[in-house]
Amino acid sequence: MGNKIKINGLTFVPYLTRERIAEQVKRVAEEIRRDVGQSQPVFICVLKGAFVFAADLIREIGINDCTCSFVRYASYDGTSTTGKVRQLVGLTDDLAGRDVVIIEDIVDTGLTAVKMIDDIKAHNPRSVRFATLLHKPQSSRTGFEPDYICFSIPPKFILGYGLDLDGKGRNLHDIYVIEEEQDSAEG
Ligand code: IMP
Repeated sequence: MGNKIKINGLTFVPYLTRERIAEQVKRVAEEIRRDVGQSQPVFICVLKGAFVFAADLIREIGINDCTCSFVRYASYDGTSTTGKVRQLVGLTDDLAGRDVVIIEDIVDTGLTAVKMIDDIKAHNPRSVRFATLLHKPQSSRTGFEPDYICFSIPPKFILGYGLDLDGKGRNLHDIYVIEEEQDSAEG
């Protein structure tokens, strides 16, 4: 585990080591394999933040007969009545009748997750499950509960292992929390 790091003038301290992350990724991978391992699931990685978690998780799940899509939300100006519209882009697989597992980096208010599940359900999958690396239950504005969670954490700003601050920090092996706000994570 490294030392403190500075990004955009803010100091971050080590929080979750790569070893702890790997343990939880393995646990969640086993749960997902147990639930969808008999079908031909579609894993949907939500860009950009989930790219590192998804790469590790999908390989750890180890199902041969699966496909992967990489989606993101693109914002554009709708009509004067709809205002800004967020549209899901990048879905390459036909989801009809398939078991879908959405892979996210973090659930904060839960608003993104709820919208994502709605958008995915419109493609008529057989089932939709939601896996997240991190969950901030105290920040929830939706009551949304992910099916698979590696870590539940307090509502502090964190980065590393795919998560960023203004695009920086995604490449870090470990997860860091903003200084003076360190707390313990469950999981
Ligand atoms: P939600 O819709 O509020 O649940 O937002 C989830 C999104 O907020 C994530 O996909 C992240 O992009 C971002 N986010 C929330 N908390 C953090 C954090 O601590 N670090 C980095 N990004 C975060």
